[in-house]
Amino acid sequence: MGKNSKVAIVGAGSVGATIAYAIMLRDVASEIMMVDVAPEVVRGQVLDLSDANMITSTKIRGATSKEAGQADVIVITAGAKQREGETRTQLIDRNYKVLHSVIGGMQPINQEAIILIVSNPVDVLTHIAQQLAGIPKNQVVGSGTFLDTSRLRVLLAQKLQVSASSIHAFVLGEHGDSQFVAWSSASVAGKPLLSFPEFKDADKNAIEKEIANKAYEIIKMKGATYYGIGALAASLVDCILLDKREVRPLSVYVESLGTVLSAPAKLGYDGIERVIDIPLDKEERTRLEDSAASLKEICAKYQ
Ligand code: LAC
Repeated sequence: MGKNSKVAIVGAGSVGATIAYAIMLRDVASEIMMVDVAPEVVRGQVLDLSDANMITSTKIRGATSKEAGQADVIVITAGAKQREGETRTQLIDRNYKVLHSVIGGMQPINQEAIILIVSNPVDVLTHIAQQLAGIPKNQVVGSGTFLDTSRLRVLLAQKLQVSASSIHAFVLGEHGDSQFVAWSSASVAGKPLLSFPEFKDADKNAIEKEIANKAYEIIKMKGATYYGIGALAASLVDCILLDKREVRPLSVYVESLGTVLSAPAKLGYDGIERVIDIPLDKEERTRLEDSAASLKEICAKYQ
């Protein structure tokens, strides 16, 4: 794929536009098609974003749902966003209907396409999209706890005064309130993170709460989050188009747990090529199973 590839972004609000912007600056796609139920919003976003075309050759235009269904990568951000104090799970009824209509409108979807779900609750909506899309499950993936993991790594990096890219640590389970940090496998250069003096008295629960609550804090202050998820979703599109095969914590179907949840997975232009079963201690295993159970219960209502 790469430079001749077409990316569709369904949902032209702040998240969708930020993803488009971040992809354009990477100059990794030939064209971005923006789709939304509000044509004026699409027109405004396209006019604004196309002003960047002096420094990026990625073309951007409005498109129909049918055209979006033929893209190489289809990013779905459409749906209601969390209001102050609202959980992501509380969005499910509204966003299930939106997702159903979005996927129905794109049919028949390009059999080679990769669908990236960003709308919330992303793990549940990824499960639903896998049932509806009519393409192989491993080609339908969600942004999962990639954003939470980024928040964690940035926080840990500040404590250790190293680059976040040198921190190996995952937030797993659900991009939501049941998420947890896999502390037992967190490391820097192979040295267990918790063995560093900077973490001798670390309050792990407080760190986990800070990460899990960050979105609520931002929403309270500015009404929505979009730059973090926008940049990271664009990096996932880049990973797909350039077949980078990075391992990221994404919403994927985990056979052993019988549900979609956020787990480390290898992502390339064929979609999810492998789910990595990272070592977890007893408590972490229990929390993963708790996440899986609560996600399974919600997914069962939206078969
Ligand atoms: C957040 C939204 C993207 O965590 O769920 O900021």
